[in-house]
Amino acid sequence: MNKPLDFPVGVNAAPALQPQVGVSRAHEAAHLHVSGEALYTDDIAEAHGTLHAALGLSPLAHGTLRSVDVDLLRRQPGVVAVLTAADIPGHNNCGPLVHDDPILADGELRYLGQPVYAVIATDRELARRAAAMAKQAIAATPLPAVLTAREAHAIGQYVIPPMHLARGDAAAALASAPHRLDGEWAVGGQEQFYLEGQISYALPQENHALLLHCSTQHPSEMQQLVAHAMGWQSHQVTVQCRRMGGGFGGKESQSALFACIAAIAASRLRRPVKLRVDRDDDFLITGRRHGFDYRWSVGFDDEGRLLGAEIDLISNCGHSADLSAPVMARALCHFDNAYWLPNVAMHGYCAKTNTQSNTAFRGFGGPQGALAIEMILDGVARRLGLDPLLVRQRNFYRDGQDLTPYGQRVEDNQIQPLTDRLVETSGYHARRAEIAAFNASSPVLKRGLALTPVKFGISFNVVHLNQAGALVHVYTDGSVLVNHGGTEMGQGLNTKVAQVVAHELGLPAAQVRASATDTSKVANTSATAASTGSDLNGKAAQDAARKIRQRLQPLAARLLGCGEDALVFDGGEVRAADGTAAISFQELVAKAYLERIQLWSDGFYATPGLHWDRAKLQGHPFFYFAFGAAVAEVLVDTLTGETRVLRADVLHDVGQSLNPALDIGQVEGAFVQGQGWLTSEELVWHPQSGLLLTHAPSTYKIPTANDMPCDFRVALYDAPNAKDSIHRSKAVGEPPLLLPFSVLLAIKDAVAACGPQRCDPPLRAPATPEAVLDAVDAVSR
Ligand code: MTE
Ligand code: HPA
Ligand code: MOS
Repeated sequence: MNKPLDFPVGVNAAPALQPQVGVSRAHEAAHLHVSGEALYTDDIAEAHGTLHAALGLSPLAHGTLRSVDVDLLRRQPGVVAVLTAADIPGHNNCGPLVHDDPILADGELRYLGQPVYAVIATDRELARRAAAMAKQAIAATPLPAVLTAREAHAIGQYVIPPMHLARGDAAAALASAPHRLDGEWAVGGQEQFYLEGQISYALPQENHALLLHCSTQHPSEMQQLVAHAMGWQSHQVTVQCRRMGGGFGGKESQSALFACIAAIAASRLRRPVKLRVDRDDDFLITGRRHGFDYRWSVGFDDEGRLLGAEIDLISNCGHSADLSAPVMARALCHFDNAYWLPNVAMHGYCAKTNTQSNTAFRGFGGPQGALAIEMILDGVARRLGLDPLLVRQRNFYRDGQDLTPYGQRVEDNQIQPLTDRLVETSGYHARRAEIAAFNASSPVLKRGLALTPVKFGISFNVVHLNQAGALVHVYTDGSVLVNHGGTEMGQGLNTKVAQVVAHELGLPAAQVRASATDTSKVANTSATAASTGSDLNGKAAQDAARKIRQRLQPLAARLLGCGEDALVFDGGEVRAADGTAAISFQELVAKAYLERIQLWSDGFYATPGLHWDRAKLQGHPFFYFAFGAAVAEVLVDTLTGETRVLRADVLHDVGQSLNPALDIGQVEGAFVQGQGWLTSEELVWHPQSGLLLTHAPSTYKIPTANDMPCDFRVALYDAPNAKDSIHRSKAVGEPPLLLPFSVLLAIKDAVAACGPQRCDPPLRAPATPEAVLDAVDAVSR
């Protein structure tokens, strides 16, 4: 995996001997993470006079807010101020895209947990004690609440109008198909469970300005929303983020409420104000992955080829739009997953309910779209008595010929060769036979096997977001500082960007450092999301480094007595390709400074070739696709419903990896995170009150090291990206979250072994022990 790139990169006339990309490097802050020295927002030394905020939450899922007893709260020990909606100087909104997200409730209570007021006190404990008096302080009249997406859909209550994406004639194809399957299914939501909760720390600056430290994937949007809430201009607000202790989409838009409250309080009181949200409150206030309900009809032939498909996808959006529209768009654009669907009609309904507002989570609707087709194909295979793998392979997109339902050609399609290789390396067919033999003689313990593929579109499905900027400073000692618009949340973005810059300037990695994300450095940045962080910011940083290098080249050529074309930047020096002369980078830079050559530069990148018609849901929304596949083998105890992943074989396409160690870490992490979504993480709201009952790790079960596949074999499929991405790599953050579909379907496969031939177990997701037992009961009755 560690092999250097085998083709020249950058603008070197001759290839570098010590490439800095394509090699495994430790995460730039790994030593700080493990020693506890890494600074997260709450670790920043508190300025003198810092106050702490806490939020008072709506006790009702739906109601009319009559009043808040501010005097009662104000009288509590340590309380300095109480803020309600009336105290917001500018717009009372912290929603992205559609402006329907109040910072503090105004008139209407929309969900149980909605922030209604903020208490600012001398310490955090006192602020929380006063804030917790919501039941006494809030006077409200209850209204009927809509708690499930199905109920909302039944009454046509949506956060945005329904979206339709169709190709061919699905109804006609369904009517004439030899076989037909109708189904209904649902998948639950998922809490991001970032280890560092939501937090913002606002510090007033001179002349009506604010510095905000915020754990956010989207500093520019925080800056903008804080400015709107303050009634200020953007230049009055600076947002910084050194790193997050995980974001997973949960800090793409939903860090805003906390940022706005801290900012409003700090500017009003002229004191630094910190708002760090307790885990239970974080669960109650913020949204998460959208749960989806599905209803489908598919028609297919004797071989299992899909001829027609019609599907309703109903997402539970919660009380506001947030990012639900692009999430549904991505779900609709991933229903095809790896398969050619000649006639298809998809209908996306974004249900509005009285719950937390659901938002981005790794995969951003893609997993919810693709999971539906995987369940459908599994059902088709069981109906026909075929191996699900065979049915999948028969439906795969052909390379370069087929169009997706949204009109983009599937180019550089790796799905067939990748799957073929994984089938072989995992020993799929031999193990399928072994498992059948095992199950025949094992009445209680059953094993199951499944292979699922992934095709994931890379780019924001909103064209203008696909841009990035960077700044590279070369100091006169030859050391380099790079700043870019992306944020670090553990994924290793800073490491990759620093590698790109080091490679471009031919420097050892230690000579390049990445600084904290800061809206006063690179402006108008996009969220670090859609897995595009290194694609976009890597290219922007490369652009900046290249400009510096091009400015240095004439001087270097003069000093070395060779042509500019013959220069090699490598290993901390610049030399003539024929080896006759060399100068250290440091010396060159020092001389360049004396010659008054600009040693810093900006860089910019905009992904080429994208277009998207949002109304018709047609176009070319993705720069390229990332592919992958996984084979999971599970063991199910049919008396307890417990499951264990015995082995998982993963082959995942990251193009030509920028950093194989980081990429394998991303694949492993995404796999286990997706496994958690589909097997153990269950969200339960009280059916009457609307209280989210699973609002802490005591009741909400994320996977641990113990749940990892016992035998976990992750390999990278190293085919260079056909598109001119940064060093021909591919994005890795989200696509592997879809790989553990194989775990869910392997569990279903094991359960099917309890029933008659061709049975199709009605397994729910998450496949908790209860769900598994119900499915076992259903097929063995
Ligand atoms: N990895 C870690 N360790 N922590 C995270 O919060 N977020 C994921 C993924 N991997 C995340 C992560 C999500 S949702 C996205 S979109 C990408 O990282 C964002 O980073 P990238 O674009 O730089 O890959
Ligand atoms: N992913 C994450 N965030 C987004 C996207 C996406 O595809 N589109 C718009 N915002
Ligand atoms: Mo990732 S869900 O795009 O932050």
